[in-house]
Amino acid sequence: MTLTRETIMLGSTNLHTAPLGVGAWSWGDSGFWGYGKGYGQHDVAEAFVASTNSGITFFDTAEVYGNGTSERILGELVRKSRSPVLIASKFAPLPWRLSPRSLRGALDASLKRLGVSQIALYQIHWPYTLLPLEGLMEALADAVAEGKVQAVGVSNYSAEQMQRAHAVLARRGVPLASNQVHYSLLKRTPEVNGVLDTCRQLNVTLIAYSPLAQGLLTGKYNAGQKPEGVRRFTQPFAESNLRAIEPVITLLREIGEGHGGKSPGQVALNWLICQEGVLPIPGAKNARQASSNAGALGWALTAAEQQALGEATSAWCK
Ligand SMILES: NC(=O)c1ccc[n+]([C@@H]2O[C@H](COP(=O)([O-])OP(=O)(O)OC[C@H]3O[C@@H](n4cnc5c(N)ncnc54)[C@H](OP(=O)(O)O)[C@@H]3O)[C@@H](O)[C@H]2O)c1
Repeated sequence: MTLTRETIMLGSTNLHTAPLGVGAWSWGDSGFWGYGKGYGQHDVAEAFVASTNSGITFFDTAEVYGNGTSERILGELVRKSRSPVLIASKFAPLPWRLSPRSLRGALDASLKRLGVSQIALYQIHWPYTLLPLEGLMEALADAVAEGKVQAVGVSNYSAEQMQRAHAVLARRGVPLASNQVHYSLLKRTPEVNGVLDTCRQLNVTLIAYSPLAQGLLTGKYNAGQKPEGVRRFTQPFAESNLRAIEPVITLLREIGEGHGGKSPGQVALNWLICQEGVLPIPGAKNARQASSNAGALGWALTAAEQQALGEATSAWCK
């Protein structure tokens, strides 16, 4: 059996990680994910332990997840853990933050909630803002110089915005480590909008968020079985889409069977891991989900299987 790479470097930094991380948006978020209803602090603590026991060390959070609760939970878990962990968090360019200097206060607040003196990867959460991109990159470079941050990244940036961010940081001697964007078999936009190509040209890691299409690619949802809460009313969970993805789930199952019974979700994550320079960060609400997602590591789809999955999901290349 072909094996996936054991570790990858984050861009051209010296930070390394298994080629799979964990997203902690649902850890403390009740509004979208229903934290406190069906899963809670004990479950996410077990998800953390199951992940680190599987060799996963990269955990992604943000100041806005659960209004800071995700950072608090993750920080407590990291401080209790003996495993070395890379924390990635994000600055939110909220409309009332009118100066790039606001990054400094937001970063200090994130460090405090996390209870650590340094964040491994600090990212700008989205580009739509009155704040000038160049000023934000200068503020990120300042944070590196002050030792509060080891590496910096962006999120939801276009190819052109990445080029500009990369150029400003390069003048300060700081590499742009990552661009975190929506990427999965059901969201292949980065392949056609220049972001994946630009990541490879600039040696920037593409961190793939919602890599399981918010649970759809696990195959557990269908027209008769929708998630609870807000998600069931969103477009991906509309009946027409649930029907359109049925052949994709069937193919994921068939391919998984040929790899000793890998699940649709594990195959979908492995497809991303097989893309050069891509780091998927699936969310996990409990130990069972975390262990299952970790089962995407340590093996690899064949080139023919990758191609078959690419062809079966070509409608999502837009
Ligand atoms: N930068 C950004 O703008 C941005 C945007 C979105 C997300 N993100 C980041 O990306 C991370 C992951 O994205 P995401 O949470 O949106 O979506 P995702 O990883 O595609 O899906 C996560 C959800 O799928 C279900 N699931 C996960 N593993 C499973 C398994 N093994 N078996 C069955 N169900 C499973 C769980 O929900 P249920 O059990 O309820 O189905 C889980 O909460 C986030 O946590 C966050 O860190 C970033």
